[in-house]
Amino acid sequence: CGICGVVGHNQAAPIVFEGLRRLEYRGYDSAGIATLDEGRIERRRAAGKLGNLGETLRERPLFGTTAIGHTRWATHGAPTENNAHPHGTARVAIVHNGIIENFETLRRELEQLGHRFETETDSETIARLVDHYLSEDQSPREAAFAAISRLEGAYALAMIFADQEGLLIGARHGAPLAVGYGDGEMFLGSDSLALAPLTRRIAYLEDGDRVVVTRSGAEFFDDKGDPVERAVQTTALVAGVIGKDGYRHYMEKELHEHPLVIGQTLQRMIDPATRKVVLPDMPCDIGAIRRCVITACGSAFYAGMVGRYWLEEIARLPVDIDVASELRYRDPPLEAGSLGLLISQSGETADTLAALRSLRNAGLPVLSILNAEHSTMARESDAVLGTVAGPEISVASTKAFTAQLTVLACLTIGVARAGGVLGDAQEEELVSALLDLPSRAAEIFSFGDDIRAMASVVAEARDVLYLGRGSAYPVAMEGALKLKEISYIHAEAYAAGEMKHGPISLIDKTVPIVATIPSGALFEKTLSNLQEAKARGGRLLAFTDERSAHRLNAIAERTIALPHVHPFVTPIIQTIAVQILAYETALLKGTDVDQPRNLAKSVTVE
Ligand code: G6P
Repeated sequence: CGICGVVGHNQAAPIVFEGLRRLEYRGYDSAGIATLDEGRIERRRAAGKLGNLGETLRERPLFGTTAIGHTRWATHGAPTENNAHPHGTARVAIVHNGIIENFETLRRELEQLGHRFETETDSETIARLVDHYLSEDQSPREAAFAAISRLEGAYALAMIFADQEGLLIGARHGAPLAVGYGDGEMFLGSDSLALAPLTRRIAYLEDGDRVVVTRSGAEFFDDKGDPVERAVQTTALVAGVIGKDGYRHYMEKELHEHPLVIGQTLQRMIDPATRKVVLPDMPCDIGAIRRCVITACGSAFYAGMVGRYWLEEIARLPVDIDVASELRYRDPPLEAGSLGLLISQSGETADTLAALRSLRNAGLPVLSILNAEHSTMARESDAVLGTVAGPEISVASTKAFTAQLTVLACLTIGVARAGGVLGDAQEEELVSALLDLPSRAAEIFSFGDDIRAMASVVAEARDVLYLGRGSAYPVAMEGALKLKEISYIHAEAYAAGEMKHGPISLIDKTVPIVATIPSGALFEKTLSNLQEAKARGGRLLAFTDERSAHRLNAIAERTIALPHVHPFVTPIIQTIAVQILAYETALLKGTDVDQPRNLAKSVTVE
């Protein structure tokens, strides 16, 4: 969910609405805004996309210079207007991101005190709890703090109070919240993206913090209510970078940014003079690491899977990898000398953050590969390697994923060199392959017609199988995930060699098989697996390269001969192609590409 709040001298609802527009990637199943109109709390809410709230506001505008707003990704309660935030009473309105785990206990207690609940949400409990303390003649600050101290679970909160013009109270525990400093105006937002056009001066709440915001500034308090200082930072983010630039979708724009983003990330990680990988601020002696524990969610997890193949093969480093939601509860024995490696675009994903904390609690140094440099994970990691992908707005990750791969490739080289398993000549070969990537990646866009033709086969299917071996296997997984996310076609990825142990029974002419099969050591083995599929009537759609395309022409219905690159970097080239295939398929299906149903970009609940 996304939160935005404003206190100032101008009409606040339009400002909050624009803030919500930039936060819509965090959830978009319903939205709402509340203002103080001559001291009275007024609110408008609407189910569905933010545009619906826009229409409601056009018909029934909101007035006042103090406002909070919310765009929702439902946890408790269906995405209806009634369950949309802000929630509240005549005395208080709140917006909440997170899950209140003890809400049933609190709700029962409040019901016994005579409170009647109007929604199915856990969030309404917070509003009624604050209302309860206000009814006992506590000040807004006392009532808010008293209520917050009773909450268990995860939350970022913003509140306004009847008859309290110019006052916002916020809190964070497990979900991010930032304060923006304007001139005579102050803001609250889930992240710097929401605040980008409003101000570049931002202070981030730390976990457990509460904040009292007025037009002239903000006072921060820790979880015991004691005053604390939080530094005001200047963000580099500017509003201009957040447009569609004439593309139909953010996803299309972000796909086209692949070459740029790979180039920018390489610039940060490779010294142009020496052509050596530079790894700043490592949390430990990386030459002495004995094992690496990688964790992430969604696409970032598949980037980690590619990283595992690289680190094991090239750096000779044993790697464990698991999705964060499993790793954090598995309680695996973690040997000394291990490095925790986290990957996240947003730096806010609740599962990944929890895994980060459990790795650090177990005494592991944690290195994180992050796109959001001011995120919670950035603050809590021992060291950060930044992906220079810029803001990624489309819910389905594209350029952030290849930037993660680029960083992982450089990290692999750095670790291998430090561990003494990579000679100068080999390093030069791998670095050359990486430096070649931006221009080779740009060539992929000349295959638009071929990929569209492939998409027309995929768009007809109900199920699609993706197959790959070695580092092309996680690429197949990424391709299948992307297709599921944005075209709603069921897709599964299998290690090509594993197909014969199960999924082969699914193969018939209605189930297209998308193969990621670059030239290299595993080409022949993968080809044999595809022959097995072909022999059973499977329709093959192959992503290979110029060098091997002729081998596939005989068996594949469609073959795309991508640029031939060094085997080390083929996953990056192949990824771009499977992502474009998902995009083209979604276009044919007519789905909401940038905001597919039920998903959110930054999932700050477990
Ligand atoms: C959500 C998004 C995915 C993303 C995952 C991890 O599920 O829909 O696209 O890969 O979160 O996000 P992160 O910000 O941690 O990379």
